[in-house]
Order: sequence, then C-alpha cells, then structure tokens
Amino acid sequence: MTAIAKAVMPVAGLGTRFLSVTKAVPKEMLPVLNKPLVQYAVEEAFAAGIEQILFVNGRGKNALEDFFDHAPELEARLAESGKTALLSRIESTVPAGGQFAFVRQTKPLGFGHAVLCAKNWVQNEPFAILLPDDLMMCDQPCIKQLADQYDLSMGNMAAVVDVAPHAVSAYGVLDIASQKGDLLQTKGVVEKPTTEQAPSTKAIIGRYILHPDIFKVLETQQPGVGGEIQLTDALSRMIPTHGLTGLLVHGHRFDCGSVEGMVEAQVAYGLRDPLMGEKIRASLMRWL
Ligand code: G1P
Repeated sequence: MTAIAKAVMPVAGLGTRFLSVTKAVPKEMLPVLNKPLVQYAVEEAFAAGIEQILFVNGRGKNALEDFFDHAPELEARLAESGKTALLSRIESTVPAGGQFAFVRQTKPLGFGHAVLCAKNWVQNEPFAILLPDDLMMCDQPCIKQLADQYDLSMGNMAAVVDVAPHAVSAYGVLDIASQKGDLLQTKGVVEKPTTEQAPSTKAIIGRYILHPDIFKVLETQQPGVGGEIQLTDALSRMIPTHGLTGLLVHGHRFDCGSVEGMVEAQVAYGLRDPLMGEKIRASLMRWL
C-alpha cells in the first residue's frame, strides 16, 4: 500500500464569515470545545500515519506558528503550580523539530494557488490535503479512509458527501461515470455550479490525496470561478490521465467555515463529551 507521509494544510483564508473575531485570530484557531480547529486536523493526519505537515499560510496567521511551539513562561508557571495535566496537554501540541513547516502564500490567488505553493516541499510523492475548517467526526479518521483506498485510484482522490441540491454551489461537484461501493469514478468535476448546472449532488469536502503531477497542471491553470485559481479545475484537466476518484466517507462533516456549522459542531462535540455531555444536554433542553 502506498504510504502517505506528507500533508498540506492551506490556512491562508481570511475567514470573513467570522469577522470581527478573525481580524485578530486566524479562523483555524477558533476552538470547538477547548481545541482549535487546526489541532483536530493535525490529530486526524497523525492518526492516519502522516508524519510531516506543511501549512500554507498568509499574513496575520502567526498565531498558528506560535500555537505549535513551546510557551516557556506558561509551561514554567504550570510546572511550578503542579498543574501537570494541563502542562502535558499544551506540550503535546508541540511537534518534533522539523515535523511542521510553514510557507507563505504571498498573494490570495485561490485554493489551487495555495496548493501550488507546496510544490517544493512535497516534491515527487502522493500527498494529502486537509482543510481544517471542514471538521470531520468519524470513527475512522477521514484522511485514513482515503489513504486506505488510494491504491485503487489512478492518482487523484477526494472525499465526498451527498449534499442537498440547493447546497451544491458551495462545492466542487462530481460528474459520476460509475460507482462501486463507496468509490465513485468521475468523468468530470465542476467548481461551485448552480443547482441547475450541477452534474450530481456528490460534493467534495476538504480532504484529498493527490498525485504530485498536480503541480505541473496548477502551474498553467487559469483563474476560474471568482477569478481564483481553482484546484477543482486542475483536477478536472487531469481526469483523462490520472482519473478522479471520489470516496463517500463515513462520518459527519461540520462546515466550521460558517457560523452555523460551527455552532452545530460545538453542540455535537459538547453532547458527545464524556465529562460535559450530560450537563450540556440538560441545559440545552431549556432552549428547545
Ligand atoms: C474548496 C474547494 C471546493 C470544495 C470545498 C470543500 O472551496 O474549492 O471544491 O468542495 O473547498 O470545503 P471553498 O470552501 O474554499 O470555497
């Protein structure tokens, strides 16, 4: 089985749907319960055996680098006051030296361009992409579900969920040639179609495993929807040579890039929390 060792996390987005908080806090640092979104994505990647992560960030995202580093003063204080559980919780977020890398997307030219910024780091091996604002609640880590099936693809693979027809315009949507179990072979993919244009309701969510040839294609990719360089358009051009396999993933996806999705995630994770769940359930009843 092909081992996927590297993951790219594009985190340069402005998070305008969360203004005003995102004026000062990157959207990937917004917490669900007491953990930032980016940490859920990192834990998901590690649980799938991924060893190295590249963050493609932008201006105002320094909090992410600080989060994945030691905080000597805080650590010393927690040690002095004997708060060992808290101390090990914050120390566990610090990766081994060289395990995480950061590169800046200096111009906001789109998701496809953010992926292209990872070219020199990825080099010549298949790699994963995780978008941290898509929070996945799955028994088996979502990116592992893809990695386990990667050898059945011709090279490019994306996680897919079925969405309501009116919701397709927020996604890359598959034109399906055939289906075998949860695997969908595609003959096309369209970025953010209208309900009328959409070839199906099978929508790509923020988890991919891609062939490194994607970089050659992205280098010549013209801007698409929204005037941005779209990953979906590059994937579409590669279908004749590398295919595009969609995997209907098992689990639930929360769109934590939207306020609504974020609230839903807080409630769901809160209710499932072994320590707080019962209390939260009882207090939520008051509002129903
Ligand atoms: C991006 C992709 C889109 C995909 C989505 C998943 O869109 O361009 O194809 O369906 O992520 O979250 P964005 O959410 O950045 O607009």
